Amino acid sequence: MTQNGHNPGAVIPDDRPAGKGLNILSVEKVTIAFDGFTVLDDLDFSIGHGEMRFLIGPNGAGKTTLLDVITGKSKPNQGTVTFDGRLDLSRQAEHSVVKLGIGRKFQTPTVYNSLSVYQNLETSERFCSRIIGMFRSLSQERSQLINETLKLTGLVDRADQNAGVLSHGERQWLEIGMLLVQEPKLLLLDEPVAGMTRRERDRTGELLQEIAKQRSVLVVEHDMEFVRQFARTVTVLHHGKVLSEGTMEMVQQDPQVIRAYLGRSRGAPRHEAPAPHAPAPEPAISGPAA
Ligand SMILES: Nc1ncnc2c1ncn2[C@@H]1O[C@H](COP(=O)(O)OP(=O)(O)OP(=O)(O)O)[C@@H](O)[C@H]1O
Ligand SMILES: [Mg+2]
Repeated sequence: MTQNGHNPGAVIPDDRPAGKGLNILSVEKVTIAFDGFTVLDDLDFSIGHGEMRFLIGPNGAGKTTLLDVITGKSKPNQGTVTFDGRLDLSRQAEHSVVKLGIGRKFQTPTVYNSLSVYQNLETSERFCSRIIGMFRSLSQERSQLINETLKLTGLVDRADQNAGVLSHGERQWLEIGMLLVQEPKLLLLDEPVAGMTRRERDRTGELLQEIAKQRSVLVVEHDMEFVRQFARTVTVLHHGKVLSEGTMEMVQQDPQVIRAYLGRSRGAPRHEAPAPHAPAPEPAISGPAA
């Protein structure tokens, strides 16, 4: 570590100022294997600044593992993950990734039931301020950020209520809000609409579109109806590689995608997430619209 706290090994030499590259995130030639089983295989994948990307693919394709690599939870055997122009995330510790501007939402919300909605947002904002080294009380600017987040997530009327009384959808939105107050440049969401009603799902899609106006968003999703409705660009992952990429219309007509994913499960019930690291079941997602 240098005196200014930077790890010289973590910075890829590049003349561009941080944030001015074409992509907010570039995954290059990333391979990761667990117990000899290759999960991400020489993977190349990137997301542009201000882009909302959907990542789909069969159970066990490596989608969550890709998020794990991006956030430093799992270290790749080879390859680089370049964030915001220059920084190699594959060498960063998991706790420092929030600090760099990446927010990740897991499928199960981690909100504090006994705190109010407002207090949950406040706690999350304070946590972020602390880890980026700003020890201070909540300023007017920060409370304004919390109020704007309440509006954006549709939780203004719930602000003073305990998070424990929220519906499933509201809890998910609160958790998204808790990430937003940390002002990430890139937001990663793993199956955000799982278990939601149709109305909650639509509301979530609109929320994500709003969020993507100000930051980049990567959404892992199995709900094809939702993806069709809200995705601009879709990446299909299969056996740890990109099988296809483009608009939903394009990828769902790609014979390789039909063969490996969509076509095999036409009309099948919604995907249910397996237990972590359980053997991957057969894909169970709804197929393309007739
Ligand atoms: N830390 C780990 N240790 C061992 N195996 C792992 C680990 N992480 C992931 N795997 C394995 O890697 C494979 C890919 O898992 P991953 O969770 O990335 O798939 P996925 O595309 O997210 O699937 P799903 O759609 O079911 O969520 C699975 O076989 C999983 O068991
Ligand atoms: Mg997963």
